[in-house]
Amino acid sequence: DGDVYKYYADGEWKTASSGKTVAIINPTTRKTQYKVQACSQEEVNKVMDLAKSAQKLWAKTPLWKRAELLHKAAAILKEHKAPIAECLVKEIAKPAKDAVTEVVRSGDLISYTAEEGVRILGEGKFLVSDSFPGNERTKYCLTSKIPLGVILAIPPFNYPVNLAVSKIAPALIAGNSIVLKPPTQGAVSGLHMIHCFHLAGFPKGLINCVTGKGSEIGDFLTMHPGVNCISFTGGDTGIGISKKAGMIPLQMELGGKDACIVLEDADLDLVAINIIKGGFSYSGQRCTAVKVVLVIESVADALVEKVKANVAKLTVGPPEDDSDITPVVSESSANYIEGLVLDAKEKGATFCQEYKREGNLIWPLLLDHVRPDMRIAWEEPFGPVLPVIRINSVEEGIHHCNASNFGLQGCVFTKDVNKAILISDAMETGTVQINSAPARGPDHFPFQGIKDSGIGSQGITNSINMMTKVKTTVINLP
Ligand code: G3P
Repeated sequence: DGDVYKYYADGEWKTASSGKTVAIINPTTRKTQYKVQACSQEEVNKVMDLAKSAQKLWAKTPLWKRAELLHKAAAILKEHKAPIAECLVKEIAKPAKDAVTEVVRSGDLISYTAEEGVRILGEGKFLVSDSFPGNERTKYCLTSKIPLGVILAIPPFNYPVNLAVSKIAPALIAGNSIVLKPPTQGAVSGLHMIHCFHLAGFPKGLINCVTGKGSEIGDFLTMHPGVNCISFTGGDTGIGISKKAGMIPLQMELGGKDACIVLEDADLDLVAINIIKGGFSYSGQRCTAVKVVLVIESVADALVEKVKANVAKLTVGPPEDDSDITPVVSESSANYIEGLVLDAKEKGATFCQEYKREGNLIWPLLLDHVRPDMRIAWEEPFGPVLPVIRINSVEEGIHHCNASNFGLQGCVFTKDVNKAILISDAMETGTVQINSAPARGPDHFPFQGIKDSGIGSQGITNSINMMTKVKTTVINLP
């Protein structure tokens, strides 16, 4: 009943001393697929010590050598795309093709990070004192970027590989060490990915991966005095982490309720395609998914018809068949989504399709005439259910978007670029896409949320900078 996987510390694969494991349930079969080690707090302590000493040496390793190892890891990761993608299919029910894409994208992300790191960490600043009033030219200031130390990386279940390497690669190129706590669903994909770094030949103790129960090691990790920075992507547990964490830099990407504002002059075929891609890819389990459509009433009927026609084309089934819509990650997630659907039903939303669920598999559902008193107008289903709210003015749409506690991304569809830019400026979100669905990538673009959607900014360049600190040396001339 499930292969048992070891955790990774000190360059070795280890079994937890407790003898306990955590089960990973295949969302499709709802049976145990794999088991991972339930690490103890004592084991976490050991890993922290190892990561700290390995980091000291790594920071002295030449930048080009760090980059070389990252390029090697990227190539190995791409070579292993098939077995890793298979894990993604079994653990998180990601459609087969998307699973391969995630691994390849991750290899590219690592390589780009290595190149970017060489460039931006390879240069510093030189300042002279006489530009500030009252000073002679007697002080030369040299700046460089130094690593923070041990980075705790906590990726979410929906991109256990890509959102792990988006933290690991910047940390490593900048001279930090890594403690990775993978999500339980996605842990084995994460361990396979770590194995690629192992094969690349990174020093022992520099990269570690602990698995286990959140209740046993979650807070213990995030509040550990050995951690110098936390990079977290996930749900609202991130808010709790940010309150409990010590005086360390935090990079957080939490949820989103990305709005899609559709104006009268929009190309409705383009909008419909993007609503399908944005709302239903990976069954809506993306923080950047389109989570509410705000459409001007005069074009709403036409748009809903087009989206309905496209929803009808979506295939529903197991991820192995590369279905568009696959089972959501867990039973509790499916139950939560169902709760939102039932609430909308009770309050009179128009169901464009019949609601259908088998186990964790939920058929794609478009809900029209959603009103602000319905939970689905505000909460993120993280599933294939999309609400449409009809609006009478652009201002009404912007108001709905900004009334959300989230502020990750949003999108606006119009042929009038001037209007689009004004709307983008008015939307309180980290990014606004004009005439396309929200998305994090390409992975070197800045990616950030405001309000409850996050702290700091990601994207390759921003992550490298975030995982460093400025160090200055001042030469005082006689
Ligand atoms: O949900 C995670 C978030 O980072 C989305 O990424 O690439 O699907 O836009 P992406």
